[in-house]
Amino acid sequence: DWNSDNVITEQVEKIRAQVGSGRVLSALSGGVDSAVSTALVHKAVGDQLTAVFIDHGLLRKGEREQVENDYVASTGVRLITVDARETFLNALAGVSDPEQKRKIIGREFIRAFEKVQQELIAEAAAEGDPIGFLVQGTLYPDVVESGGGTGTANIKSHHNVGGLPEDLQFELVEPLRALFKDEVRAIGRELGLPEVIVSRQPFPGPGLGIRIVGEVTADRLEILRDADAIARAELTKAGLDGEIWQCPVVLLADVRSVGVQGDGRTYGHPIVLRPVSSEDAMTADWTRLPYDVLSKISNRITNEVRDVNRVVLDVTSKPPGTIEWE
Ligand code: XMP
Repeated sequence: DWNSDNVITEQVEKIRAQVGSGRVLSALSGGVDSAVSTALVHKAVGDQLTAVFIDHGLLRKGEREQVENDYVASTGVRLITVDARETFLNALAGVSDPEQKRKIIGREFIRAFEKVQQELIAEAAAEGDPIGFLVQGTLYPDVVESGGGTGTANIKSHHNVGGLPEDLQFELVEPLRALFKDEVRAIGRELGLPEVIVSRQPFPGPGLGIRIVGEVTADRLEILRDADAIARAELTKAGLDGEIWQCPVVLLADVRSVGVQGDGRTYGHPIVLRPVSSEDAMTADWTRLPYDVLSKISNRITNEVRDVNRVVLDVTSKPPGTIEWE
């Protein structure tokens, strides 16, 4: 019967057999699948593996640190972080259309990854040890969804245009191909990965870029990041993480409404809370959060986050609404 210990032992042997003395590359996204697949490969081949984390500036508060500090500390993975925040912001300047944003983010992600990939290939070749393998966090449901072929990326492709390039110089290493999400989490825990990563709720590849309705700017990202951190902290504190599938926090950047604070009138932006309950994200219902928790989140966001003077709750099921606003 199923046992995470056995799966780890079995996969470690399989990975070693596949990779031999070859070098392996992996892209970490901050999500569960890439974190666990990368940790498994590291357990199997150690420093033959290099992990790459691209900071596109669309992450939530603390996510980069979780990968750079906690994940690295718990695995010992050799990590390269690419700071691509400027590049992504410049590419997104003036763009409001959601699908345009997705395309741009997907394209820039591939560019940033290929750039570091080329550098690492050159470095490895100089040492006479070419990189031949790429880790992918493909799960069983991804295999089924894509008709049994090889998965395309840790960053799922059904929404994200592109994903990682299917580079012919690379053979894919996909240690999670037979597993379901809860099994992947169990393996992550067994491998000692940080709980914040292992139990992470779904988060879209394009990140906060598709949670700002309107143009993405550094200023707006900062506002949204602060509001999102407050909502997440309060939901966790109230013990509601298990009940909620995910809770997008959305900034309506092009909408302003009048408010009052102290002696003065304000003219700020609304933040939308979108807590949903779901089994598979195909359908969803809005989560009936306790009023006192909603009240706490609303008070904190309007008091602590600049330029936000209103918090609203999305009470739409899916369908007809989607989970995300873009
Ligand atoms: P929707 O908004 O379509 O979302 O109801 C369903 C699930 O997919 C996630 N989502 C995305 N994931 N890239 C991703 O990797 C995307 O562009 C994207 N858009 C939506 C969403 O968070 C939810 O879990």
